[in-house]
Amino acid sequence: MLTKSISIVVLVFLFLGCEQVDRVEDVAKKYQDDTTEKTEKISDDIDQGLGATSGKELYNGTVNTSSCAGCHGSNAEKRALGKSDIIRHWEVETIIQALQEYKEGTRDQYGMGSLMTGQVKYLSDSDIRNIANYIYNLD
Ligand code: HEC
Repeated sequence: MLTKSISIVVLVFLFLGCEQVDRVEDVAKKYQDDTTEKTEKISDDIDQGLGATSGKELYNGTVNTSSCAGCHGSNAEKRALGKSDIIRHWEVETIIQALQEYKEGTRDQYGMGSLMTGQVKYLSDSDIRNIANYIYNLD
């Protein structure tokens, strides 16, 4: 009798266990679908850039999801998070090269390169050029 009850309990647990695996798989599938959708959206954004013509808008985060100004200062006069160089008055080409390298994930000056990769990965080449021109032309 005891053995029988134990087997029933075990069976119930096994059954619940399988149910849960199903649910985990559902969640995983849904997560994957969501991620695929988001990745496709991001790829579209990368192909088309953010459609922004103004480096000022990009720099100040009115178009981009995050604002360069938030860390580098509204006149690019700050060391971002106390780490980066002050990029105000950097040459246009120097800024472009740095941003391209962050986008490719190959630049890391102060151990925070991946943070910058997150900032620029959505930007097209022309977005980057517009931002660089904007920074260079700040007073
Ligand atoms: C969350 C804060 C943050 C934001 C937002 C941010 N940056 Fe940065 N930025 C940093 C940090 C930290 C570094 C240093 C990264 C490293 O270790 O190489 C950096 C580095 C740089 C550099 C190279 C400076 C150097 O010293 O080599 C440039 C150029 C730059 N950022 C431009 C931008 C632009 C343009 C944007 C907006 C698209 C932006 N950043 C957004 C924090 C930020």
